[in-house]
Amino acid sequence: MNRTLGVCYYPEHWPEERWETDAAQMVANGLTWVRIGEFAWSLMEPTPGTYDWGWLDRAIDVLGKAGLKVVLGTPSATPPRWMIDKHPDMLAVDANNQTRKFGSRRHYDFSHLGFRAEAVRIARLMAERYGKNPYIAAWQIDNEYDCHDTTLSYSEAAKKGFQDWLAQRYQSTDALNRAWGNVFWSMQYDTFDQIELPNLTVTEPNHPHQLAFRRYSSDQVVAFNKAQVDVIRPHTDAPLIHNYMGRITTFDHWKVGADLDIASWDSYPIGFLSDRIEGTPKEKQTYLRQGHPDNQAFHHDLYRAVGRGRMWVMEQQPGPVNWAPYNPAPLPGMARLWAWEAFAHGAETVCYFRWRQAPFAQEQMHAALLRPDAEPAPALAEAAQVAEEIAQLPDVGTAASPVALVFDYESAWAWDVQPQGADFDMFRLAFAAYRGLRRAGLSVDIIHPETADLSAYKLVLAPGLMTLSDPFRAALDTFDGIALIGPRTDTKTDELAIPTPLGPNLPNTDVSVVMAESLPPSDAIKLQNGGKFLHWFDHLEGDADVYLSTKAGQPAIMGSDNVRYLAGWPSDDTFDQIIGNLCDTLEIATFDLPKGLRIRDTATHRFVFNYAPKARKWGDVIIPAAGVHWEEI
Ligand code: GAL
Repeated sequence: MNRTLGVCYYPEHWPEERWETDAAQMVANGLTWVRIGEFAWSLMEPTPGTYDWGWLDRAIDVLGKAGLKVVLGTPSATPPRWMIDKHPDMLAVDANNQTRKFGSRRHYDFSHLGFRAEAVRIARLMAERYGKNPYIAAWQIDNEYDCHDTTLSYSEAAKKGFQDWLAQRYQSTDALNRAWGNVFWSMQYDTFDQIELPNLTVTEPNHPHQLAFRRYSSDQVVAFNKAQVDVIRPHTDAPLIHNYMGRITTFDHWKVGADLDIASWDSYPIGFLSDRIEGTPKEKQTYLRQGHPDNQAFHHDLYRAVGRGRMWVMEQQPGPVNWAPYNPAPLPGMARLWAWEAFAHGAETVCYFRWRQAPFAQEQMHAALLRPDAEPAPALAEAAQVAEEIAQLPDVGTAASPVALVFDYESAWAWDVQPQGADFDMFRLAFAAYRGLRRAGLSVDIIHPETADLSAYKLVLAPGLMTLSDPFRAALDTFDGIALIGPRTDTKTDELAIPTPLGPNLPNTDVSVVMAESLPPSDAIKLQNGGKFLHWFDHLEGDADVYLSTKAGQPAIMGSDNVRYLAGWPSDDTFDQIIGNLCDTLEIATFDLPKGLRIRDTATHRFVFNYAPKARKWGDVIIPAAGVHWEEI
């Protein structure tokens, strides 16, 4: 599989006379793909039912004739203003019952079936018109589901949809009352239409009520996406893609991904470091112009799995963004490093966002490959360099990873609605485990919670899973590596109740969580090996072997040769120790990486990335800040 580069382009933002120049310059700089269209509904359909496809026909033609492959986006993330007159109740409503108004983007409610039909209508018209167009080589559906917190909406449409969904899931209110434990606080319902959305209650709404609403809302995203897939598929053989965001857990990406051909994501490493990733002030300063050294890798590995092996970066940060609290410029070299890192993790294509900086509107401070005056911005030369390099090293096929990490969206919802500790967060926990694996130099696969076959792996980590699925439990039963399960795994039913007998229900391993405690950041549970647990501690009982204890003598890791339960959330140093010991036992080679260096193996090469703000040594090689080194393996 050849690796390729591309760029996001908005022909509607520029005079038509400019398109040919832009297209030629894209090609001259080694770009293969151009993504267009995803926000242009108001120009495709200026008034309800009247269409202007001419400009889009010509744009596709110019780009295609220049030699570019076009990714065509459906524009459902930006319905035009007239749509609100047509469907005044299509706007989403926030948890305080405030309508989220027109005037930016993503102003729609996933539950609104009238708007869903409009999105399907425009997608169908586009598919009919462009499905066989030789220049359209891929489709993007919508843009960044949930961006700007748009999965959950507390609208009338959502309430009606939720009630129907509940009736289907539970069949009777008796069953729902039992499943939710509604006898508590006299919360029983007699009819489904009595059930409100779980907002604006006096104190916290019942957890299974909230979890059901999360499940319902995720299902609406899946259905919204699939409705467009269903009308586009019959018209094209080109792959269908969605561009997911980073650290978004409000809908089940596994389910959306099952209907698509490629999972792409939008990688803004510096924006994410400032805006979305926990870290000490020192880490934030060290990586200010590079991004967190594990954040991109985590999402590449996650979306490679969501895409069943096919992953792209649809938007790659090229310079300062406009939306984070602070927006520094990348170190020279990072726009190249990020692209190579994506390829090493299996990306087929990396598209920079965007071709030319817009001098107007919300993103006018967002850098691009060209400046607003059409002169090259610094990232253009870096993109051109990557294009030359991939021509020399076209195929870097994905290597087998010895290690897997389970990631589950339902569990993220469970702990969102029942954090129990103010800073307990599923992504944060999974990412802490992942970072430990990456600091040890391991290449990681992220896997689905229902994975039924673990035979490709030696070490499997499963932190923070609300339940264990039957296929995964069966796979554990025959696993001959080591699975480290926990903390906070399989200690609930799928209605967020506490099971009896107490969980986890691990094969051939007698361990139970008899009490759980959460800890403020100022506190920790000390371990016998000098390490510590932060945030969370499960108190364990059972006959299984104890592999590690707390200083006070309580079990910290307990289980059998193959399946062990980790009782707490290890600090970074403790994760390093635990992972190091497990890898020694399993004879998995680890590395003592200099700070800021990360490695990723491909089928043929080992890639080394320097995220540190200064040069680092890798063997005899000096890798400059923001440098990339590769060697054959
Ligand atoms: C993404 C989005 C783009 C653009 C970009 C700016 O979230 O898909 O349309 O807004 O961020 O960084």
